[in-house]
Amino acid sequence: MMTKLLTRMLGMAAIGWAAAPLHAESLTLASPDGKIIVTVTDDGGQATYAVSFEGGQVIAPSKLGMIFAEHHGFDRGLTIAGSARASSDTTWEQPWGERRLVRDQHNELAVTFAPDAGPARQITVRFRAFDTGIGFRYELPEQAALRGDMNIVEELTQFGVGEKTTMWYTPSDEFNRYEYVTRTGPAGTVDDAHTPATFRNEAGIHFSIHEAALVDYSSMSLGALRAGNFEARLRNWSGGPKVKTAAPFKSPWRTIQVAREAVGLINSDIILNLNEPNKLGDVSWVEPGKYVGIWWAMHINEKTWGSGPIHGATTAETKRYIDFAAEHGFAGVLVEGWNIGWDGDWFNNGDLFRFTEPMPDYDLAELGRYAQSKGVRLIGHHETSANIANYESQMEAAFDLMQTNGVRAVKTGYVADAGDVVRVDENGIRRNEWHDSQFMVGHHLRVVEAAAKRRIAINAHEPVKDTGLRRTYPNWMTREGARGMEFNAWGTPPNPPSHEAMLAFTRMLAGPMDFTPGIFDLRPNERPPVHADGPRGDPSNRPQTTLAKQLALYVVLYSPLQMAADLPENYEARMDAFQFIKDVEADWEESIALVGEVGEYVAFARQGRKSKEWFLGAVTDENERELSVSLAFLEKGKRYRAQIYRDGPDAHWDTNPYAMVIEEKAVTGGEAFAVRLAASGGVAVRFIPEG
Ligand code: NOJ
Repeated sequence: MMTKLLTRMLGMAAIGWAAAPLHAESLTLASPDGKIIVTVTDDGGQATYAVSFEGGQVIAPSKLGMIFAEHHGFDRGLTIAGSARASSDTTWEQPWGERRLVRDQHNELAVTFAPDAGPARQITVRFRAFDTGIGFRYELPEQAALRGDMNIVEELTQFGVGEKTTMWYTPSDEFNRYEYVTRTGPAGTVDDAHTPATFRNEAGIHFSIHEAALVDYSSMSLGALRAGNFEARLRNWSGGPKVKTAAPFKSPWRTIQVAREAVGLINSDIILNLNEPNKLGDVSWVEPGKYVGIWWAMHINEKTWGSGPIHGATTAETKRYIDFAAEHGFAGVLVEGWNIGWDGDWFNNGDLFRFTEPMPDYDLAELGRYAQSKGVRLIGHHETSANIANYESQMEAAFDLMQTNGVRAVKTGYVADAGDVVRVDENGIRRNEWHDSQFMVGHHLRVVEAAAKRRIAINAHEPVKDTGLRRTYPNWMTREGARGMEFNAWGTPPNPPSHEAMLAFTRMLAGPMDFTPGIFDLRPNERPPVHADGPRGDPSNRPQTTLAKQLALYVVLYSPLQMAADLPENYEARMDAFQFIKDVEADWEESIALVGEVGEYVAFARQGRKSKEWFLGAVTDENERELSVSLAFLEKGKRYRAQIYRDGPDAHWDTNPYAMVIEEKAVTGGEAFAVRLAASGGVAVRFIPEG
């Protein structure tokens, strides 16, 4: 601590409080391969950065800065008062993930800006340039002029992306949080967007704007300042500032991934590399795996969360799922609707949820024991309806109860419209906050830490977006934060055929998603109603995919907790196809996005962490296409048995979704592999080495 303080003071003395120089200073930082250049200047007293790739502009000169409620800020009259450079090339290991070994190779430039008016003060912007993109963050050291509260009124960061640049995004200020069909248009026509937002400029360069290490700060979205020029919009507190903080503090990293090909955005680890290493120590208890659950049945009105004649979470029904999981090698059984609070209008009555009180027909202790006797674990469920006050008052006891019953993962839920999260303030007044506010950023980490104490992992639905914190807290395994499979039960309209090929290049750049793939009955709302309490929904709500595409999703959409979401009886009816879900892994030694275009198609190869077997998965939008990929990921010249699950010759998501060919073929590492994907179809392949 002492040494840190001393270094800081010495640094300040060395920088001094010089008057603005007559000439602007300009510094550059190059990525290790020299292709990405960041230029930082104080031209016109303005802290500015720009980004280029292979000589072409990606981000036009764009403003940096920050203003506060209680203090002078950093918005004008700025000069570069000092800078420091560093380089680093290390490799670290993920306990679980899309790849085991992650290389962190970057060059760094820390630029300190000081204003020429007002009290002497300074702010540092630290840039890192990787071969796949850049990150920068603000660092505000402790200093005499900036004592006490420093509530951030505005972060002035801008992103000049260009008016005509194509943008793929979801809106940031509408009621359904992150759950929108991805929109596309010229950036100049977009008002507001969540991140990650994906772009392709007129030169064909792809880039994605997001953030990493969102801790004790509010989320950033993109707000149009002028056509094609976005500013970082920080979500505000109810009636308060955007961020409540004090010096010293560091902002999250603002990230810009850059690649010529769209798949280059996926094959980038900068979000993880910009997060702090694991803080939890031994995390061998965090176990990736596949699960089934009492879940889809509620979404298709076959069962209810609430009590009654078709209550889903009964002891008998849970045992049926446990038996199915045990028989087919699934690690977990999720059970929703197990606790008191679901009856009535649970969307709006979050204060009624009891997280330690099972429903009378659900014998938690017996089921915890029964599951473990069969080598399976229950997965807990805490739907809070975003009433944080109610949940946090029961949270410790709730996780104790889960731990006692052998639970190793809990799915949390925050169903409520955006801006309707309930917080009770220090004066007992009920306030409404946003799902992506600083308050919720803090809440999620309180949950993750409380769970970690009991060796429990978290899968958050209606979450705050992922910014790579799984590196620091490896028990924060997965989350929702986009339109998942459930929209195909009741979404009106359901997810379009392009949805998954879009997610791969947008939402998934942030991190794993609990999408819940694997629906085999593709017309669930055409099933006969089971009871007056379970009328079927609009039949147009259905997965708009072929069956082969459902299998491909296990390789395409990464989640370390991966669900087989359909009902056991639907799997029992198609055991041939189900075999792929049984074989595929949920934890990877390596992952490679091979080819693809945003929202059109994508192909992935992933190598299982345990079996070391390679899998291939590819999906397409509404257009059928011939896909050809190189099997260069396999050992060159080695022979493999490829177990292929592909669309039948006349398959089509709308008219003939079940037509599927399951076949085995001998292939050789390094050769080309060609396959036809039907309209909204896919292919899933397992490669078994010969000999
Ligand atoms: C929304 C979640 O995304 C879904 O998975 C869950 O079943 C419901 N909320 C109820 O908690």
